[in-house]
Amino acid sequence: MNPPRGVGATAVFVAAARAIESGRDDRLFEDRWAGEFVRASGWSPPTDQLDDSSREELTAWVAARTKFLDDFVLDAVAAGCEQVVLLGAGLDTRAFRLHWPKTVTVYELDTAEMVQFKEAVLAGESPAEASRITVPIDLREDWPAALRDAGFHSDVPTAWILEGLLAYLPEEAVDALMRNVGELSAPGSAIGATITNIDFAAAVDDAPLFRGSPISRREWLSLLHSNGPSDPVAWFDSYGWRATAVPTDDAVRRYGRTLPEQSVLREVRPGNRWLVSAAKR
Ligand SMILES: C[S@@+](CC[C@H](N)C(=O)[O-])C[C@H]1O[C@@H](n2cnc3c(N)ncnc32)[C@H](O)[C@@H]1O
Repeated sequence: MNPPRGVGATAVFVAAARAIESGRDDRLFEDRWAGEFVRASGWSPPTDQLDDSSREELTAWVAARTKFLDDFVLDAVAAGCEQVVLLGAGLDTRAFRLHWPKTVTVYELDTAEMVQFKEAVLAGESPAEASRITVPIDLREDWPAALRDAGFHSDVPTAWILEGLLAYLPEEAVDALMRNVGELSAPGSAIGATITNIDFAAAVDDAPLFRGSPISRREWLSLLHSNGPSDPVAWFDSYGWRATAVPTDDAVRRYGRTLPEQSVLREVRPGNRWLVSAAKR
């Protein structure tokens, strides 16, 4: 099995953070696959070399965003969405982890390389409560056609998740993606998203996180292509969505976590990252 490289390796970082979170007594969720993905990638994150502050730095944001979007998608499904679409699904295991209140179909879109790796680790396992359909596609291409071919219906309300994705796409691909999501969304649809101002990335130092990792810090920086909007609510509004945006600090605090005083996430606050939930207008 080939471990994800390039932008795919960013999903392994997220899985590493979810594995650490899953081992906490006060965990916000349990992802039993996250550690398996990291092991299968061949990377041994230097977690034992991280002090408490660095570990909190690594996990607080991913833990908060995961929990926020877990709650978002369950609320959206309870409110009537029968399809869930994960754009840039990476190693997300919501289809397996969550107790879906009714039958939903979860579509996972990511590169063919990522889908292959993930399926190899999952080894044929299927979610107990949801139908899960993987769609290998580059999101800079005609992904709406691939999604429709996979069974998606644009007249059915849909919950979309754009988690840790948009910064990795060129600006024109982000614009096209938002227009496509709008066109594919029936009334009652919703979006849950992370929005990142990528200026913070320059402040992330080399050690110890990137030691032995599947991606160097330099390569990671080169993968960040578009800056998130400075006003996410107005930006979603321009695409036809009524949004609320929660800034990083508030999001983390909401779940009883605090970012370390020296956090790089603090250095460029306020408003370097947001968690967004939006309803179709
Ligand atoms: C930081 S990871 C986030 C993964 C997942 N959403 C999560 O939060 O666990 C970014 C994901 O976006 C995917 N991605 C980036 N650019 C893509 C593209 N052009 N087409 C398809 N997937 C892409 C990567 O393969 C990777 O899985």
